[in-house]
Amino acid sequence: MEQELLLIKENALKDIKGALDAKSLSDVKVKYLGKAGELTAVLRNMRSVAPEDRPKIGSIVNEVRTCIEEALSQKEKAFEREALSAKLQGEKIDITEPSKGQEKGSIHPIMSVLDELIDICVDMGFTVVEGPEVESDYYNFEAMNTPKNHPARDMQDSFYITENILLRTQTSAVQSRELETRKPPFKIIAPGKTYRNDSDSTHSPVFHQLEGLVVDENVSMADLKIMLSEMMRRLYGEGTKVRFRPSYFPFTEPSVEVDVSCPNCHGQGCKTCKGTGFLEILGAGVVNPKVFEIAGIDSKKYKGFAFGIGIERSAMVLNSVPDLRTMYRNDVRFLNQMK
Ligand code: PHE
Repeated sequence: MEQELLLIKENALKDIKGALDAKSLSDVKVKYLGKAGELTAVLRNMRSVAPEDRPKIGSIVNEVRTCIEEALSQKEKAFEREALSAKLQGEKIDITEPSKGQEKGSIHPIMSVLDELIDICVDMGFTVVEGPEVESDYYNFEAMNTPKNHPARDMQDSFYITENILLRTQTSAVQSRELETRKPPFKIIAPGKTYRNDSDSTHSPVFHQLEGLVVDENVSMADLKIMLSEMMRRLYGEGTKVRFRPSYFPFTEPSVEVDVSCPNCHGQGCKTCKGTGFLEILGAGVVNPKVFEIAGIDSKKYKGFAFGIGIERSAMVLNSVPDLRTMYRNDVRFLNQMK
């Protein structure tokens, strides 16, 4: 019996040593230690061993078993290490290889002009506010001194949701809201999207405006002119000429339209400015006292001025984009040029 056990041990160790891979090693394990394995068979025969010899044989069996198990586990570990290092070798990366580069996004030209204007205004002491794009007829028109059937409504063909709810046609709607809730003096700007039923190479049904409103005791057209001239010079560059033309808005009196000298030809006249040398950029004026009265502000004590800047026009001119609609198509080739 003892001889038999030692032979099993010797053969097992030989087989383990000779195993070429994990699979054949596992076969060796089954061959000796499995249910029908050779060592198991010996154990089953213990009954035939004389009782006085059993402890001795038992301890040899244990010794042989431990020895085989240890050899197996060592060989298993060796195979694992080999497999791991083969895997690592296969996945090796060359960190000296030059990178493919990373695609970076960029700020859309419209947003970039809007951000720049916001920065300029914040620098001048304005507070940024926002209002809803789905607006009531009251805030968009009525409170801006533009009652139903007012001819000025013709210039702002609107998208109505119900008879009294529409997509705001102008950020001036935010003026109405702020006038109703704020205590003068204050200086606010309201950037955002506006909507009109217009669509051609210079009009999009959705576009952006930046509204400004200053309310204080002693403000006048002179303040408006100085402030807007400075803003335009900061946006379009030093040396930009700013021109004020009389205009009409129901909510300002007097009203002006403001032009800047064309940054493309510096006033000489070119395709961008249609030969006029100037570009129309914004509407503005001294707040009509009626607007103050509708909002419950004392129009004898307080004066104000307001402006509404169209953003798309500036974004087109500053980036030499001839057709406004390309700005909304999100063609990556176009956006890449704008970086
Ligand atoms: N809301 C006017 C427009 O959209 C612009 C404007 C704003 C004019 C504020 C005067 C004062 O045309």
